[in-house]
Amino acid sequence: MHSNLHQPAIDAILDHGWIRDVQWYAEIDSTNLAARRALFKSTLDHSTLPLLFVADRQTSGRGRYQRQWWSPEGCLMLTLAVSSHSLLNRPEEWSQLALVSGLAVANAVARFANSVEVQLKWPNDVYLAGKKIAGILIESDAKVWLIGIGLNVCMDWSSAPSEIASKATCVSTACGRRVNSKVVLVELMEELQRSLEGWRSGNLDWQTAWRERCLLTGRVIHVQGAEAKGIAGVCEGIDSQGRLIVRDEHRVHFLTAGEVLAFR
Ligand code: BTN
Repeated sequence: MHSNLHQPAIDAILDHGWIRDVQWYAEIDSTNLAARRALFKSTLDHSTLPLLFVADRQTSGRGRYQRQWWSPEGCLMLTLAVSSHSLLNRPEEWSQLALVSGLAVANAVARFANSVEVQLKWPNDVYLAGKKIAGILIESDAKVWLIGIGLNVCMDWSSAPSEIASKATCVSTACGRRVNSKVVLVELMEELQRSLEGWRSGNLDWQTAWRERCLLTGRVIHVQGAEAKGIAGVCEGIDSQGRLIVRDEHRVHFLTAGEVLAFR
């Protein structure tokens, strides 16, 4: 399924003792789909989680809102399957998990790039110097959270669709040198473990850290979502539940889900 080239990264991840097993595919449709298939073909034993699914290439990489995710080699693509039994069990769990996962990715990127340029676009897009560097697709099934992460590490921009090439960046572009995605993967897993375990244990530090990286605070934004059928207003950051605060001319909105379509 995977070549020996990946073994040092797999060993480093397993040695940390958090991840129970790693499935690494040279090519797969989508790591989120691979995780679903692997987890739900038999009765799931939650003691075998967290599990990690990684792919060198995806043929049907999926983004939020049924979009496609451009998935060539050079993009670090993974799905982390964690038991939701062991996470908080409250309604805001989903949105907070999205924010905490995004923060972990941002912190991992900040280990390689200029940290002050790493920002989060609510709920969990990661930006570097104003361009998107990572996206996250979270799904759930049978008390398992599937945290799908696509992080651009070392992309060949000459083969990118033009709308992506103009709006996206990668770790290597930002660093001005080729960065190996396996090196980034090992650091990312450390950040994910730290973020998820901290949040799960009730530590609220993620809120301050998230606000410091908020791309939208103070900007005029356009949002659309379950509670917001088109709002334009000034973003005032996030509240303690991770909701986006938007002030328009009528009132202040607190959004649990949605998409920021534009910001300036
Ligand atoms: C987005 O910004 O819309 C989220 C993109 C998430 C992409 C990742 S790549 C690994 C995992 N597998 C998928 O099919 N999607 C996620």
